[in-house]
Amino acid sequence: MANRVEPIRSVKGTRDLLPRETALWQRVEDEARRVFAAYNFREIRTPILEQTALFARSVGADTDIVSKEMYTFQDRDDESLTLRPEATASVVRAYIEHAMYNEGGIHKLYYIGPMFRRERPQKGRYRQFFQIGAEVLGSDHPKIDAEFLEMLALLLTRVGITEYQLLLNSVGCSKCRPQFVETLRQALEQVKDKMCGDCQRRSVTNPLRVLDCKVEADQPIIEKLPQIIEHLCAECRVHFDHVTKELGDRGVAYQISPRLVRGLDYYTRTTFEMTSNVLGAQNAFLGGGRYDGLSEMIGGPPTPGFGVAIGEDRLLLMVEHAGVLKADDGLDVFVAWLGDAAEQPAAQLARSLRQEGWRVESNYEAAKLKKSLGQASKLGARFAVIIGEGELASGRYQVKDMAAAQQVEVERNQIAPFLKEKLQKGSH
Ligand code: HAM
Repeated sequence: MANRVEPIRSVKGTRDLLPRETALWQRVEDEARRVFAAYNFREIRTPILEQTALFARSVGADTDIVSKEMYTFQDRDDESLTLRPEATASVVRAYIEHAMYNEGGIHKLYYIGPMFRRERPQKGRYRQFFQIGAEVLGSDHPKIDAEFLEMLALLLTRVGITEYQLLLNSVGCSKCRPQFVETLRQALEQVKDKMCGDCQRRSVTNPLRVLDCKVEADQPIIEKLPQIIEHLCAECRVHFDHVTKELGDRGVAYQISPRLVRGLDYYTRTTFEMTSNVLGAQNAFLGGGRYDGLSEMIGGPPTPGFGVAIGEDRLLLMVEHAGVLKADDGLDVFVAWLGDAAEQPAAQLARSLRQEGWRVESNYEAAKLKKSLGQASKLGARFAVIIGEGELASGRYQVKDMAAAQQVEVERNQIAPFLKEKLQKGSH
């Protein structure tokens, strides 16, 4: 036997999405695009590669993402590049680079694409994962926050998801947060020796990060630490109260979650996550918040911002579990032809149906009817059109409803309108 070379496999933590999966991904993305458009968001596409400094300055050098999880390498000209671990920093960079602020007003942008974090792979957690994200730049109005969360609720309804929790918090602003951080630092002084190594280090370098420590033994200690929501300045308090009132007016349910500081440093004021019980350990399927200082952190003019990133991989797990949204990739029509004389008329019918947008397949080579119909049923065709000698002579083709196993004769020129009526009556 000839030696076979070892097959090359995909990289750990990455995966292929095969057509049976991508059909549903496309449906979800279509719904997202529609909902974003309804709220006047437009798409932005930024590069997957960015300068490393972009994330170090925005997400924060002391976060897990930047300190442990980035795919960073020196390019051939020695520039340090990183595969984006998230896209908010990229969107704000693009906003600054293209001086979009000169256009004035509010910019509403969305994106869909892959992100990269070198985390330990598990259910719902990958090293290459996908996010559907949206950002509003140019306003700090609390209505933006509330309307945005209302939009997310609509999107979830559209993809058939009804069971989830919206967790909400405020992390204050550059005025009140430093004072809180000092209070937290002092509280940590008393307890940090009993905590994990990361927390001991962070209690000095970045005490807020202690709040999102995941180490089990540290949890009872963290529960007793001071809460930022109790230490907001007057403006942040008013802002947060306005957001929650607006959410109430809009019928968006939420739970206040005082420990929700998020794993990225750029947040100010409102932060939020949505969680679901169907996901297991990685239960947050989206997260975001306000980032009024981010633009300045990366060299832009003061520009308040608010946004979300939905973990698309996790969202898909929930969509599948809910089972309401269905993939729309079944074949509409199989054109089965018998005998050489039917080949061209079949090609012509297939072409005209395809031009009208139907999903059509046909046998490429002469085949027995049984084989063609077998193929039609394997492909899930709703209808088969049969063209043989008799049909050519009469000008009337056989149209078979595959599920009902009923067959009728239809005038050749009436096939398209006939199918149109039938298919539109069905699920299409
Ligand atoms: P994030 O919380 O880091 O926020 O990520 C958002 C979502 O992406 C998470 O809730 C999770 O569903 C998903 N996610 C994160 N890491 C992974 C992974 N390794 N595998 C699968 N899914 C994952 C951000 O990225 C911010 N940029 C969100 C934002 C936008 N804030 C303001 N605007």
